[in-house]
Amino acid sequence: MSFTAPIQLPGLALDPQWYKRAVFYEVMVRSFLDSNADGSGDLTGLVSKLDYLQWLGIDALWLPPFFQSPLRDGGYDVSDYTSILAEFGTVDEFRDLVTKAHERNMRVIIDLPINHTSDAHEWFQQSRSDPEGPYGDFYMWSDSDEKYPNVRIIFTDYEDSNWAFDPVRRQFYFHRFFSHQPDLNYENPAVVEAIFDIIRFWLDLGVDGFRLDAIPYLFVSEEGTGEGEPPTHEFLKKVRAMVDRDYPGRVMIAEANQWPNEVAAFMGTDEEPECHMAFDFPAMPRIFYSLRSQQAGELVRVLSEHTHVPEGAGWGVFLRNHDELTLEMVTEEYRQAMYGWYAYDPRMRVNVGIRRRLSPLLDNSRAELELAHALLFSLQGSPFLYYGDEIGMGDNIWLPDRDASRTPMQWTPDRNAGFSSADPGKLYLPVVQSLVYNYHHVNVESQLAQSRSLLHWIRNVIHVRKVHPAFGLGQLRVLPTNHDSVLAFVREYPGSGNQFGDAPETVLCVFSFAHNPAAVRIEAPEFAGQSLRDLFGGGDFPSFDAEGGIELTMGTQGFYWLHVGEGQFAGGRAS
Ligand code: GLC
Ligand code: CA
Repeated sequence: MSFTAPIQLPGLALDPQWYKRAVFYEVMVRSFLDSNADGSGDLTGLVSKLDYLQWLGIDALWLPPFFQSPLRDGGYDVSDYTSILAEFGTVDEFRDLVTKAHERNMRVIIDLPINHTSDAHEWFQQSRSDPEGPYGDFYMWSDSDEKYPNVRIIFTDYEDSNWAFDPVRRQFYFHRFFSHQPDLNYENPAVVEAIFDIIRFWLDLGVDGFRLDAIPYLFVSEEGTGEGEPPTHEFLKKVRAMVDRDYPGRVMIAEANQWPNEVAAFMGTDEEPECHMAFDFPAMPRIFYSLRSQQAGELVRVLSEHTHVPEGAGWGVFLRNHDELTLEMVTEEYRQAMYGWYAYDPRMRVNVGIRRRLSPLLDNSRAELELAHALLFSLQGSPFLYYGDEIGMGDNIWLPDRDASRTPMQWTPDRNAGFSSADPGKLYLPVVQSLVYNYHHVNVESQLAQSRSLLHWIRNVIHVRKVHPAFGLGQLRVLPTNHDSVLAFVREYPGSGNQFGDAPETVLCVFSFAHNPAAVRIEAPEFAGQSLRDLFGGGDFPSFDAEGGIELTMGTQGFYWLHVGEGQFAGGRAS
């Protein structure tokens, strides 16, 4: 396969707010391509697929942890933060990845799980065996398992307490996740210092930023819930100040599975910023809710809440990632409805969520996949794709826990889906062979060969998004409609204000969740008489009438992205 005519966004390389216009792609090193036939994906394999990612229009990679680890939690159980797991590669190979990505104007974001380590980490081994030694206070030890009563359990399917007894030290240690992941003791300045050293180590190697895993949980107090407590924010402010001072242009992305205001708090304030970005956990489940309830109301509600974020901060929008589709940010009633629609087999559930991939969740419906992606690429924030979702990959619910949706990338119809030439039994996880998602037909090669494939469709949407700055930089304002199934909003960008930058732009985005065609009237008096043009083909639409109303006919689960008014207009397809 060869990939030509990459989509280039001029100026991204110099833009300090590059992350606001970037399209991100989450890819586990283990899952993408095995270059040496040992059954596990590796850094060299990933490098060999950078051309593909560039062709797709990806601006930044997010790599889940690839550090030394016993891999009992997909690498989120780190046993040494400055070495790379041998089966993934070496630090030199990582440096090569960064160089080759940068040559393609693509950034590399790495995942840092700093709330906890693996119990195999040397720090923990020393801490348990030598309480008086230099690592004695690196973890949260206690004689009782009753401290911090307000802290909830996250892995509800696997753990019934946040405390575990260590037979060596004969004390309990605190853990937010699996009991093999002891939490670090952030009250100990030596821990804070050690973490700063790790952050600098990777920044010095050239990474463009971090996804800060499980970031609300660093500090815990007796009265608090251990989520976003004030000292955690103080810590983040210090990291940010260091990044801004010594590594400008690098970004911090918060993984905080919380309500909008609490998530926004991880971006800090204008005076004291924290993370540059935070994942939009509240919006995500509401997209799935709207698709099946045929009601736009819940999305309208969360999108109308004006959560203030500091200048320069941005959201990360996603449909799926390497974890379960979490249902923590919805009410019990909605959660039950979503389990009924999306996890009718109990095997599909894990913790408070659903362990399935995007395409199976949407029953492989092309209309729903397009609608969901149209939202992903036009909501306020930067889109994060999960590897394989661009070809509608399936999952394997017979695998344990979240491995269900971490199977090898499907490149070709050949052995092991072109992921590896190893004996199939040697793969870290089997490739998907189910009836509907079998790699024989769901793979990159076959979708490249079909001009109307999901892969080509997604690439084209990415291209259209990129040539319209309103998507990355504009504000979002919900517009009233007369149809419960229709969501309408405008993305409004005032322009960069100088002759070299982007012109002002307004885009009207309309989505119908109805499972049948629908006619809708949208009211926007401020646009009275303005014309509308389709962003994809450039076709003229009826103009807003004298009162600022517009009637649109929506196909089943259809959507429009429409340019509002005259002025600069860049439409067209990816070449
Ligand atoms: C985050 C990760 C998840 C991991 C957990 C514990 O939530 O996304 O995969 O299991 O942290 O590190
Ligand atoms: Ca390998």
